[in-house]
Formats: sequence, C-alpha cells, structure tokens
Amino acid sequence: MAPKKLYIKTYGCQMNVYDSERMAEAMGGEGYETTERPEDADMILLNTCHIREKAAEKVYSELGRYKGLKSARPDLKIGVAGCVAQAEGEEIMRRQPMVDLVVGPQSYHRLPEMEAKVRGGGKALDTDFPEEDKFDHLKGRPKAKRGPTAFLTVQEGCDKFCAFCVVPYTRGAEVSRPAERVLREARDLVERGVREITLLGQNVNAYHGHAGGLAGLIHALAEVDGLERIRFTTSHPNDMDEALIEAHGTCDKLMPYLHLPVQAGSDKILKRMNRQHTAEQYLRLIERLRAARPDLHLSGDFIVGFPEETEADFQATMDLIEAVEYGSAFSFKYSERPGTPAAERPQVPEDEKDDRLQRLQALLTKQQRSLQDAMVGRDVHVLFEKPGRLPGQMVGKSEYLHAVHVQAEGIAPGDLARIRIESSGPNSLKGVMNPL
Ligand code: SAH
Ligand code: SF4
Ligand code: F3S
Repeated sequence: MAPKKLYIKTYGCQMNVYDSERMAEAMGGEGYETTERPEDADMILLNTCHIREKAAEKVYSELGRYKGLKSARPDLKIGVAGCVAQAEGEEIMRRQPMVDLVVGPQSYHRLPEMEAKVRGGGKALDTDFPEEDKFDHLKGRPKAKRGPTAFLTVQEGCDKFCAFCVVPYTRGAEVSRPAERVLREARDLVERGVREITLLGQNVNAYHGHAGGLAGLIHALAEVDGLERIRFTTSHPNDMDEALIEAHGTCDKLMPYLHLPVQAGSDKILKRMNRQHTAEQYLRLIERLRAARPDLHLSGDFIVGFPEETEADFQATMDLIEAVEYGSAFSFKYSERPGTPAAERPQVPEDEKDDRLQRLQALLTKQQRSLQDAMVGRDVHVLFEKPGRLPGQMVGKSEYLHAVHVQAEGIAPGDLARIRIESSGPNSLKGVMNPL
C-alpha cells in the first residue's frame, strides 16, 4: 500500500520544532511519510503557538485556507496540536467544524490512537496533562541520517507564572526528563550524524533530571564521543546557579552564547511581571557569567508596552540594554492574553507600543551589528551545515551563533573548521579557511 502523506506546519518556539519532528517519526510507524505540500496530504497537522494574539489568530486563517481541500477530499483529516490546541480545546472544533483532531502538547504519544479514531470517521480531542512522559511513549527515532545540528527537549512546562504569559497554562507544570534517557537520545543522534545539540526547555536551566542539575547534564553530555557542541535554551535568570555559570568557563563543548531573557529594565515593571528579580540582580548575574567566560555573547527577550509601562520605565529597559550589549535579541509588543493577570491591568496605547518597539529594536540592531562587525579579523570555529547560494559556498555557524559563509572546495556538512573572518554583512559573516 502506498504510504499516506502527512503535512505538518510548525509555529512558535523550538520546542514545537522538536515536537513536530517526533510526531512525524511516530506517524511514520503508522504508515505516514511527510510531505511539503498540503495539497498532497492525507492528514494536515498544525503545531500551534498561543504566546501572542497574532500567533493564535494565524491558526484560524491557516485553517480557512484548507477549506477548499477538505471539501474536495472529505477523507483529508485535519488536526490542531500545540499550545492553541491546549488553550482552546473544543472551541477550535466549534469555530472550525472541519477540524477532526485536537491534541495538546503533553498528549502526543496518543496521536496514533487518535489518528485511527478520525480515520474511522470520528473526532478526537485530548488536552490532558498525563503522568507519563510523552517522549518515552512516542515510537523510537528511526536510524535515518540527519543534519549536523539537532534540538533535544530535556525539560517541559513552567511554574513561574510571569503575569503576561500563557506557557504555564498551555504546557503545564515543570517536568524534567531523566538524564539516562536524554543521554541515550543524544548518543543516538550522534550516531546519525549530529555534532551539535541544543537542549530545550521552557525553563531549561530549572532542569533537575541529573545530579547537579543542568550543569551536571551538560558535563555528562560532554563525555559523548562525536558530540562537539552543546547549547541550551531558554533560561530564566533565577535558575542560573553557580555550577551552570562555572560550566561556561570549564566545559569546552558548551558554546559561548547564552539566551537569557530579562523582558524589562524597570524594577516596577519587573515586579508587576512577576519576574522575581531586579534589573540590578540581572546585571550582576551577567557580570558573573562574563567573569566565567569573557567572550560570552548574550541574547535576550524584551516586551515593550507592558500594562502601566511609562516612558521612564521604558528608558530603564533601554539603559539596561546599553549596559549589557546584546549579540542578538527578540523584542515584542505586549499582547493581552486571556486568563493572565496582566490582561486585567490598564493597557498602554498601541501607538505608544509601536513607537517604543521601534526605538528598542533600533538600539538592539545597532548592538547586534557592532558585535558582529567586531568579528572581522578574528578566528572562529564554524560547524558547517549546508551549501550556500553561490557555487562552492558553504554556510555554518560560529560558536557565537553567527552565520558564516565560506568559499572553499572540500567542505562538507558536519565539518568543523577554523575560519578567519574577512567581512561582515547585514545578517552574516564571510571568512576563509585558516588551518594554521
Ligand atoms: N520561558 C521563556 C519564554 C517563553 S515565551 C522565558 O522565560 O524567557 C518567549 C518570549 O515571548 C518571552 O520571553 C516574552 O518576551 C515573549 N512573550 C511572552 N508572552 C508575551 C505576551 N503576552 N506579549 C508579548 N510577548 C510575550
Ligand atoms: Fe512564560 Fe515566564 Fe515561564 Fe518564561 S518563565 S515561560 S515567560 S511564565
Ligand atoms: Fe508558543 Fe507554546 Fe512555544 S505558546 S512559544 S509554542 S511553548
């Protein structure tokens, strides 16, 4: 029998990217292979994000687009997974009756059963937070070869309840996967060609599946032969313990790049966001990290226009950014999320938010560009990932996560090489092989 075809579209964070890979592999066991074209699919699965209003609305407009396909081929099955599935559950089927299946992020191991049910003509809904670990119940990873970089989820959920954020409601309480399973999966990935692993978690540094927490896990992973690079994301400042700070100085395989969101620089706003630390505490933490690893590149997330944010509060965020100097950053206008405490507070007008976002992004872009330009003339190590657009060109990432283009014969994906940076463009660097 010809394999059935599965089209998965992924929104949101890297954890969704990882989940989509694992779902595709699990559905492989049910006779599905993936396709890039929704028109060819027997099943369409949207893996969704609920973090901001726009992200959630995208799901409904995307579903609208599949109406024609579904009426032409009624046996096409349509499913919604991810954080919108968790947050809206049945409501999705009410708003879009052509949806057959709704599955929340902690129930993906039940997807094969749910698929059988909808194949038989029924509807399937599962938004439980079951006790078992979904990844242990999803079918094993196939042995197929894969690219040099991979994500590996080690921790899920969040207990922090920042006043603006839906994640604790959509992903549930913090849980860590046992280190033994993580290590097994990492070895398996390395056998399949992976040389760099990014450990994922909504609060990855709250990981406690290994003695010594995330630092303990990183040191254990560093022993895996053939694994050359380790990264992790996303961290909360309050879970950055001494051992993890130290690991940045002592573990060669841990890359000198850290995503450490602070969201705002005003203590009043930080308090109302329920971030549980001050701007000063964050700056002291950065100092300790830089003492452990002086060339550490920092990245962050920022929200502008949080309820009751004044111009002075916003200036405090700008001051904090000036003090830190970020190598990269993500910034967003505050978006009201139903059911979160901040949604009940007096809102900042939209044009104010727009104006602040523009000023903030101008500053962040300037910093990003100046740190990138400062790489010119320096040697970096590049892990090559794929061919570039020009003939004979390869693209990879430096230890600082800059994209680097190199024109050279004989480099293959998965190769690591020392590269001398010669120039810096808007989004990437160019370099030459420097074997000396
Ligand atoms: N666990 C991570 C963040 C996950 S959400 C952390 O604590 O950093 C990713 C980013 O989306 C957040 O860091 C925040 O900057 C942004 N975000 C979350 N909720 C938001 C909202 N309601 N409006 C605008 N941005 C939001
Ligand atoms: Fe959301 Fe805060 Fe948890 Fe991050 S730490 S996921 S921002 S509640
Ligand atoms: Fe979005 Fe859920 Fe990730 S809300 S950012 S997909 S945890």
